[in-house]
Amino acid sequence: MCPPDHFTVAYAINPWMRPGTGVDVGLARRQWDALRCTYLELGHAVEVIDPVPGLPDMVYAANGGLVVGGRALGARFVHAERAAEGPAYLEWLVRAGLEGAREPEHLNEGEGDFLVVGGLILAGTGFRTSPAAHAEVQGFFGRRVVSLELVDPRFYHLDTALAVLDDSTVAYLPAAFSRSSRQVLESLFPDALIADERDAAVLGLNAVSDGRHVVLAAAATGLVAALRERGFDPVPVDLSELLKGGGGVKCCTLEVRS
Ligand code: ARG
Repeated sequence: MCPPDHFTVAYAINPWMRPGTGVDVGLARRQWDALRCTYLELGHAVEVIDPVPGLPDMVYAANGGLVVGGRALGARFVHAERAAEGPAYLEWLVRAGLEGAREPEHLNEGEGDFLVVGGLILAGTGFRTSPAAHAEVQGFFGRRVVSLELVDPRFYHLDTALAVLDDSTVAYLPAAFSRSSRQVLESLFPDALIADERDAAVLGLNAVSDGRHVVLAAAATGLVAALRERGFDPVPVDLSELLKGGGGVKCCTLEVRS
């Protein structure tokens, strides 16, 4: 995770961002700290990277890379405003001793667009990560990658439209995907939890699950109830200040899978 010390909305690279919107950095910090403490209370280890001044979106750590089986691939950002985050996160990944940690060849925004479900990697494209990066990730990790096309600019990263709940279960908003990608999701996950627009619009799908506890936006009340019904243990948190940059729980979290 990366503390939001330099968080602000100074540019707009997604429809959630309105430059000039006031940001309460103190509140962002308290909400972010509460998320960090939630993970600790659930028994997870949390590593923190030093935030770099001038990189307001660095708080969205998910975009910093992809780590699977102790191997790490860095990120290459689409927008110039975030480009310097790539090397900053890569330096952390290298120092953490992750195998093969290197810069990617193609545009990829890390776990924003790559989600691991069991032995599979789901990969988003359409707004940020390029299809060429999907092939690169498949080669680098030696895992099957399934490409999914995003079509709604509000859900510009895969992790805003789909949540991984456990090794075989996902929740997603069908309308965020192209018709053919919806068919792919239906055949891969016939028992998926289908989310509605209202929950997705508060970034409820931008969730982190350990297979049982699902940390997600408290405002996604429908999803919280649906998860409980399915036997998951929803853990609602409030990241309203960070939503101003277009990010939620998952965006603030890069999973380091050993
Ligand atoms: N403002 C950031 C951007 O548009 C938000 C990134 C959110 N991260 C995520 N994993 N969806 O790039």
